Amino acid sequence: MIRNCLTIIAFIFVAINIKCAYEAKKQTLKVSLYYETLCPFCMAFINEQLYPGYQKIGDYLDLELIPYGNARRNKSNDGWMIECQHGPKECLYNKIEACGLARNEDQNVSISFVYCIQKAIQMDPSANYKLITKKCSGIIGVSSTEIIKCAEGEEGVELMVKNGVKTDAVQPEIQGVPTVLYNDYYNDTLEEYNDNFLGIACKLLNDEPNACTNLENEIL
Ligand SMILES: *[C@@H]1O[C@H](CO)[C@@H](O)[C@H](O)[C@H]1NC(C)=O
Ligand SMILES: *[C@@H]1O[C@H](CO)[C@@H](O)[C@H](O)[C@H]1NC(C)=O
Ligand SMILES: *[C@@H]1O[C@H](CO)[C@@H](O)[C@H](O)[C@H]1NC(C)=O
Repeated sequence: MIRNCLTIIAFIFVAINIKCAYEAKKQTLKVSLYYETLCPFCMAFINEQLYPGYQKIGDYLDLELIPYGNARRNKSNDGWMIECQHGPKECLYNKIEACGLARNEDQNVSISFVYCIQKAIQMDPSANYKLITKKCSGIIGVSSTEIIKCAEGEEGVELMVKNGVKTDAVQPEIQGVPTVLYNDYYNDTLEEYNDNFLGIACKLLNDEPNACTNLENEIL
C-alpha cells in the first residue's frame, strides 16, 4: 500500500515536472511600441488594444514601450533642444512615462502605469500633469515628486535622447505613430491591423495562448 502511494506520488511529481518543462518552452512575442503621449491614435492603441490585450496574453509578450515618436532634437552649446509634435506638454508626458518606465523592470507594472496616464489624459486632456502623475505613480511604487523631478530635469532629457536614438534606428524608418514592431519587424499589413492587436499577436503566436481560441476577428 505504502509502495503504491509512493509510486503514485512519484508519478505525480514527474507529471508536474513535465508540465513545467512544457510551459517553460512557451513562445514569446516581442512587442515594441513606438509612440508619443498626446497622439490620439497612440492613446486609442494603448487604451483600447494593447492594455486589454495584454491582460489576456501578457504572459506571452515581451513588451517594450518607447515614448518619443515624432519628436525632433538637436544639440547646441546650451545642451539638447527637444521639440514634440504636440508641443511642450507632450514632451513632458513623454518624459514622465519614460521616467516611470526607467524605475521599474516588471512589464505588468509598466503597461499599467502607461495605461493609467494615457487613460487619464484621454478622459481629461486639460487635467494637471502633477495630479495625473500622482494618481499613477503609486503603480510603480515611486513618489510622484521623484518622477516629476526626473521629467523636468536632466534625466528626462537623457531618457528622451536615448529613446530618440532608438526610434531613429528602426528600419524601415518610422513614418508615423503608433508604430508597433513584432519581434523587431513591421510591415504595411501588420500596420493595417493596429486596431486588432489581439488578432495580430495571436496569429504571430500561432494561437498558442488559451485566450486566442475563438477570437472573433481572425486576420492575415
Ligand atoms: C503579469 O500579468 C499576467 C497576466 O497578464 C499574469 O499572468 C502574471 O502572473 C503577472 N506577472 C507578475 C509578475 O505579476
Ligand atoms: C535645430 O536647430 C535649428 C537651427 O540650428 C533650429 O532652427 C531648430 O528649431 C532646431 N530644432 C530642434 C528640434 O531643436
Ligand atoms: C507582413 O508580415 C506578416 C507577418 O509576417 C505577413 O503575414 C504579411 O504577408 C506581410 N505583409 C507584407 C506586405 O509583406
